[in-house]
Amino acid sequence: MLSIEGLVSGYGRTKVLHEISLEVPDEGLVAILGHNGAGKSTLMKTIIGLIRTLHGTIMWDGEDISKVSPHERVRRGIAYVPQGQQSFGQLTALENMELVAGSSHAPKSLIDDMMDRFPDLREYGSRKAELMSGGQRQQLAIARALITQPKLLILDEPGEGIQPSIVADIRRTILELAASGIQVLLVEQQIDFAVMHCSRYFVMASGRILSGGNGGQESVSAVREVLTI
Ligand SMILES: Nc1ncnc2c1ncn2[C@@H]1O[C@H](COP(=O)(O)OP(=O)(O)OP(=O)(O)O)[C@@H](O)[C@H]1O
Ligand SMILES: [Mg+2]
Repeated sequence: MLSIEGLVSGYGRTKVLHEISLEVPDEGLVAILGHNGAGKSTLMKTIIGLIRTLHGTIMWDGEDISKVSPHERVRRGIAYVPQGQQSFGQLTALENMELVAGSSHAPKSLIDDMMDRFPDLREYGSRKAELMSGGQRQQLAIARALITQPKLLILDEPGEGIQPSIVADIRRTILELAASGIQVLLVEQQIDFAVMHCSRYFVMASGRILSGGNGGQESVSAVREVLTI
């Protein structure tokens, strides 16, 4: 379980997150919602350790990992797919996956599993990542994260700027992963999908948690109301 308490972080002297507390239980999907600039990506980067925790704790598997390096957090089972479909552009899709498999001592068979999951990665595996479409690069980024065999997968707006058919594939994958016991922390602009399928959601505004609740149809309109304010 991921349990965050009183988390404060930011950029330089500017604090962006103000006393964030939330939990991601051992099973299921947790959604983070909020307008542009609410601090969603800052929260994800702080959880994975790309941004320093100024105050508060990030408990993971019973230990405070807030001072632990990002690499060590990945080694302990947290994977992070940043907003904006990033991979090593000069490497091919296959090389990108091999690099991650090598550094995380994952079996090569996992690369095949990913190509079964995302057939585009098989078809375009020999293409440099920078020459792939945004949707294909997002699939590659998710594949890279999954090759580390995470217990918790953090996805920051995986559907942003991507054609609907690939968004549908990515959503199906997210639901399959959550159903298979991987904890998923999802930042998502599409309220319906996130709130319908999540076990818990949190709405952020100005670096704070504004509201939260359990997922499901009834919560969708409640979230809409909060977000129109
Ligand atoms: N590298 C940075 N340096 C300084 N300020 C930053 C930096 N990145 C983000 N910010 C600021 O932190 C605040 C939160 O940004 P963040 O990217 O976390 O928002 P977000 O909720 O992910 O928004 P979006 O929905 O647009 O992705 C914003 O005011 C933003 O301007
Ligand atoms: Mg963001």
